[in-house]
Amino acid sequence: MGLAPFTGIISAILLLCLALDGCQGQVNAVFNAKEALALARKAALGPLGADVKIFNVLEYGAKADGTTNNAFGPTVWQKPGIRSTANPGGRRPSSLKFNNVKNAIIRGLTSIDAKGFHVFISNSENFRIFNIDIQAPDTSPNTDGIHMSKSSIVKISKTKIGTGDDCVSMIHGCTNISIKKVVCGPGHGLSIGSLGHYEGEIDVKGIIVKNCSMINTDNGLRIKSYMSNFPSKASNIVFQDIIMTRVQRPIIINQEYDNINGAKSSKVSVSDVFFTNVRGTTVTKTAVSLICSQSNPCTNIHLNNVDLKYEGKIDDKLYMSSCTNVKPSYGGVQNPPPCPI
Ligand SMILES: *[C@@H]1O[C@H](CO)[C@@H](O)[C@H](O)[C@H]1NC(C)=O
Ligand SMILES: *[C@@H]1O[C@H](CO)[C@@H](O)[C@H](O)[C@H]1NC(C)=O
Repeated sequence: MGLAPFTGIISAILLLCLALDGCQGQVNAVFNAKEALALARKAALGPLGADVKIFNVLEYGAKADGTTNNAFGPTVWQKPGIRSTANPGGRRPSSLKFNNVKNAIIRGLTSIDAKGFHVFISNSENFRIFNIDIQAPDTSPNTDGIHMSKSSIVKISKTKIGTGDDCVSMIHGCTNISIKKVVCGPGHGLSIGSLGHYEGEIDVKGIIVKNCSMINTDNGLRIKSYMSNFPSKASNIVFQDIIMTRVQRPIIINQEYDNINGAKSSKVSVSDVFFTNVRGTTVTKTAVSLICSQSNPCTNIHLNNVDLKYEGKIDDKLYMSSCTNVKPSYGGVQNPPPCPI
């Protein structure tokens, strides 16, 4: 586990992994494991197995004094990632990486200036992540707050994420994910995708994003896919009670994100997506932009009570919604006005 230095109050720093394959470590004698476990148990709602293990992040290089608190991201952000057979994309190292971990609680951590993703979860199940503070400048590349793939039952709440890339990103195989009371910004916002990036992608299903705030982010709520020949489905996605503050593209589906081998449309089918009670301010004229795939048009896209005030400089008459290969259904307030039928 590549755990970078973290900072915070000692009693609030702990990392629990239960019945796991990917996390390794031992209980620190100084760390009050009993107290930490009691706190986590109280917060996690539900029984923890008898085989619970507690990992004190201080043992992995975290600092509790609030002074030594960065993961040395600035030393590598301007350099290209190092490519190897194990890392063909040259991805920069993540600060906290979980692969194949079941039943874990991560709480009370502050992660600053990761080289790559701050938290990276893949092939994992049953996570609770709360009271996390993630910080990196808006100019830092690929420093996603929490990046997930092929994982299910992940609940993220009461967390603050400011980065140079996605706040939370969920790519293929993410199911039953809940994101509540998360504040994002700066950064690229909450993202489902990119999808259609790899051959044999697993569907994305069952994502709820509720009671979150986006502040000065490039995107707000985004679903994106490549134009490629790799088919999959993204469905049952709910965005509810979201507050936007000066967000550039508050609601965006973009199925023309980029193309692979010159493909002309995305084979990802997006359906049953709800945007409910989304309000606040935006600074670009197309506040609601739904660009769906020509070969796989979006179905059952619902917008209910979307109230986004324009705070940019351009003439108000240009303030609009845009729809391509989608006929959304509308309810309640719509600002900007709906796409013409
Ligand atoms: C996701 O939730 C649905 C509905 O509660 C359930 O039927 C399904 O088994 C869950 N899937 C996973 C992978 O947890
Ligand atoms: C969640 O909702 C409550 C009540 O509307 C609000 O006060 C709070 O700011 C919201 N939290 C976030 C992160 O948006």
